[in-house]
This record gives sequence, C-alpha cells and structure tokens, in this order.
Amino acid sequence: MSAKPMTLQELPADLDRERLPRHVAAIMDGNGRWAKGRGLPRIVGHQRGVDTLKELLRCCKDWGIAALTVYAFSTENWGRPLDEVNFLMMLFERVLRQQLDELIAEEVKIRFVGNLASLPESLQQEIERSMEITRHNTSIQFTVATNYGGRQEIVDACRNIAQQVKEGKLDPEAIDTNLFDRHLYTSDIGDPDLLVRTSGEMRVSNFLLWQIAYSEIYVTPTLWPDFDRAEFHRALCAYQQRNRRFGKV
Ligand code: FPP
Repeated sequence: MSAKPMTLQELPADLDRERLPRHVAAIMDGNGRWAKGRGLPRIVGHQRGVDTLKELLRCCKDWGIAALTVYAFSTENWGRPLDEVNFLMMLFERVLRQQLDELIAEEVKIRFVGNLASLPESLQQEIERSMEITRHNTSIQFTVATNYGGRQEIVDACRNIAQQVKEGKLDPEAIDTNLFDRHLYTSDIGDPDLLVRTSGEMRVSNFLLWQIAYSEIYVTPTLWPDFDRAEFHRALCAYQQRNRRFGKV
C-alpha cells in the first residue's frame, strides 16, 4: 500500500473548484518576527520565507489557481538596514538563478513588476532572463512585485496617459477605468480576487491599490514562514464563505 502524502496535493474536498479565486495576491509579512522569536537573524526568516513561497506557488498550481502575485520588496523597504537590503537583493537573485529550471519545468510564467531599473544590475539581468525564458508558459502566472509601490504605479499610469493626450494620440474623453487598467503594470493579469496578508497587520501597505478595489481581504496572525498549505486551505475556505457583491445588493 502506498503511503498517502502528507501534503494536500489535490484540492481539498471542502473547497468548490468552481468558486476558487482566479488570482491570489499575498503580502508576505512576518519573516523578521519569525526569526526573532527563535533567536535567529532576520535573514533566516527571509530564507524560510522563500520556502513558503515556493510551496504556495506549487499549491496554487496544483489546485488550479491561475495567477499568484506576491509583494517581495516595496519602494519603502530601501529604508531597512543596508545589510538586510543587500541580503534581500542577493537572495532574489540567487533564488531566481537556482529555481529557473524548475519554473521552466513546471511551466510557470514569471513576471516582475515595479521600478526594476533601480535594482542591482546583476539582479535585473536575472529578472530579464527569467521573464524572457518563461514568457510563453501557461500553467500559472507568477508575478513578483519588487521595488513596487501602488501609488507610484498609479502615477506612472497617469503620466503615460497624459503623454498620449499631449501627443494627440488619445482623447481625454476616452479615459475610463478600462483604459486606466491597461496602463497598470498588471494589465495582463487582472485584479486579485483574494488578498492574503500574514502576521496580523490590518494594512494594505501600498500594494496593488487600484487592483484590490473589490478583492476579498484575508488577514491571518500566522507569520509568513509558517503559512503552509493547511493555512492556505483555511484562507480559501474563508474566501468561499464570502458573498462577493461588487457594490451591488
Ligand atoms: C516581510 O517580512 C518580508 C519581506 C520584506 C521580504 C519577502 C521576501 C521573500 C519571502 C523572498 C521572496 C523571493 C523571491 C525570489 C520572490 P518582514 O521582514 O517585514 O517581517 P517583520 O514584519 O516580522 O519584520
């Protein structure tokens, strides 16, 4: 008799496949506290956070969720101690280099959004390479917000639109929410149905400000490194109990 795997590979029976979120976004918070609670340096928390992320990506893929978007580094995170910022940049680059073959094998399409031009040159190259190689993959759309700020994204979209108006290519009357959507970094993924935030903070922290207008928000006290499949299962159960009305009755 073959042993049943401990991980929930298949969609748990209490979840309705028809009512899964199409797009899940996550604010991966609590790595530092997770490490501190164990008397470890904060960077160990970030390393464990990568394992959590890999498992969540695999889980989304296993369970048929089409898109996962995560907040890896905000425009405000540059204000952290230099050692930690440098470690994170090095970690992103290392993870990308080491995981690229697996992303390809698993048919993941990876995208980075944010002000990428301010990232270290070598990281930018890895980002470019991974996006280029995986761009035709279709199993899941994985978006990593890096040096990302929601307000900046909206300002960038406004500038872009204003420039087109200035050049006479766009009639101001044609500006509506659909057109605006198309000028965001996330134009090809659509809005998240579910936004998960770990570590109990009740904030959106400048993440996908426009896109989360009607997202269901799920906050758990669990710290990111402990956010496993069972926790994600709980988040999806909570999501399926919500009545999404989009402003209607
Ligand atoms: C927030 O925890 C976490 C981050 C700022 C970094 C998240 C990054 C990863 C998990 C790595 C992702 C890697 C790739 C390649 C996408 P915190 O440091 O704010 O924790 P605290 O609130 O407890 O201090």
